[in-house]
Amino acid sequence: MFSRKGIGGAAPDVPGFSAHKGPRHVAVIMDGNGRWAKARGRPRLFGHHAGAKRVREIVNACPDLGVKYLTIFAFSTENWKRTQTEVAGLMSLFRRYITKEARALRDEGVRVRFIGDRMRLDAKLVALMDDLECFTEGNDRVHLTVALNYGSRDEVSRAIKHLAEDVASGNLDPADVNEETLTRYLDTKVLPDPDLVIRTSGEARISNFLLWQSAYAEYEFVDTLWPDFTEHIFARIVSCYGARDRRFGGAKP
Ligand code: FPP
Repeated sequence: MFSRKGIGGAAPDVPGFSAHKGPRHVAVIMDGNGRWAKARGRPRLFGHHAGAKRVREIVNACPDLGVKYLTIFAFSTENWKRTQTEVAGLMSLFRRYITKEARALRDEGVRVRFIGDRMRLDAKLVALMDDLECFTEGNDRVHLTVALNYGSRDEVSRAIKHLAEDVASGNLDPADVNEETLTRYLDTKVLPDPDLVIRTSGEARISNFLLWQSAYAEYEFVDTLWPDFTEHIFARIVSCYGARDRRFGGAKP
């Protein structure tokens, strides 16, 4: 089982394992924008705008913390159930965010990717997402993945549909279907598995986020609402991760 040597010593031969002590890939469920706004007597969108400002701070903190991959949950396949005003406001926020932040993200060495189903998103937003992916594709300092119209069950269903099409057309032998094959059909195929998943706002659930990829992730649920989630809180959680004993199903030596 311990077949790969990393900087931090022997590393288990499992996908997504980080050799250094800190988490290489952190995924974040940014929750609590609505409650943050409500506490201030403001509309929910006010909280989303405050939440968007935090994204830059957390992305910028990643390199010094050794976090190479950051994946954030911006809009779920279930979020369409919110009021039309909130959904339209969020879509407009995403468009504005991409337009406004593109240059800074590129100049900071951030490579941006989007995961989720783009079919239901409006064409203008999808074009901005495509452009931002192209605009930053030469970067490697931090890999920021934004989950937008993303749901894990939806992702796995789309992956299986695509895989079944390849079997039907003779491009894939059913005998070759295994965990690694399915992983190659997921939106996250180029990413390592998350080492650490953080959810803000005191809710202890994972809400259909990276279910397959987080099979062996560590979880951290913090009470802080997302607009109050500072780089210092992030740094503390990341540094505490080093004390965790990840065994990936193996026994203590
Ligand atoms: C959950 O809080 C948050 C969302 C559904 C949206 C997350 C979006 C952002 C942080 C905005 C910006 C992101 C980018 C990439 C620009 P909630 O509304 O469910 O809060 P509540 O549980 O208190 O109601």
